[in-house]
Amino acid sequence: MRKKIIAANWKMNMTVAETESFLESFRLEIEDVTGVEIVIAPPFTALAKLSELLGGSQKIRLGAQNFYFEKSGAYTGEISATMLRELFVKYVIVGHSERRAIFGETDAIINQKVLAAHASELKPILCVGETLAEREAGKEKQVLETQLRGGLAGVTPGQLLDTVIAYEPVWAIGTGKTATSAQAQDAHAHTRAVIAGLSDQATADKVRIQYGGSVKPANARELLHQPDIDGALVGGASLEARSFAEIIKAGGEE
Ligand code: PGA
Repeated sequence: MRKKIIAANWKMNMTVAETESFLESFRLEIEDVTGVEIVIAPPFTALAKLSELLGGSQKIRLGAQNFYFEKSGAYTGEISATMLRELFVKYVIVGHSERRAIFGETDAIINQKVLAAHASELKPILCVGETLAEREAGKEKQVLETQLRGGLAGVTPGQLLDTVIAYEPVWAIGTGKTATSAQAQDAHAHTRAVIAGLSDQATADKVRIQYGGSVKPANARELLHQPDIDGALVGGASLEARSFAEIIKAGGEE
């Protein structure tokens, strides 16, 4: 049984004050939820405050949206794994399509981040997904395979169990256009098969694969009940406590 993992990717949103008021209402909203792992990845500036407010909560885990793979040094503007660990960050999003497209991250860079995350006992959430042009050209499976093989190179089966994959079709991110549950399930099953090829079936069966791209309370239940969909990575709809809580309830047992 794979425990569902539902993560908020706040991107470049939410001040410290907004984070505090979000958490106050969010905690009430999810009081009765069980059986789902919840992660919030705020911007770096709100991590310390959120860490303090969560106080080591088992129910809500802290995530970061990015980090740099070097240990320390002359990397102006970057944040290390050690800095994240100091704040009790547990998960780190790696290879988000916005990092790939806007900040030029390649599969090779992303792979270094995945390996560095494991070396520091951070669990990477590795994002993969095709663009609209790639899907229209019938290349989505090929793209997924390249990104997975590239991003996961050198990752051991043991480390794979501590890796979350997020399938996020680029054309569905922030567009209001969700993949149908059948399209998503198909991509997730393919992702699991690629992971089995990189390790073994028993390992692949335990790896959690999130769907991301315009997940909302209205479509969450159907997506989250597909056999190979083990959670969600939520952008826009995670900025409001009630809507994020509704998505979590759609995936959890109440
Ligand atoms: P969205 O973003 O939910 O706003 O589409 C998802 C993501 O980019 O992780």
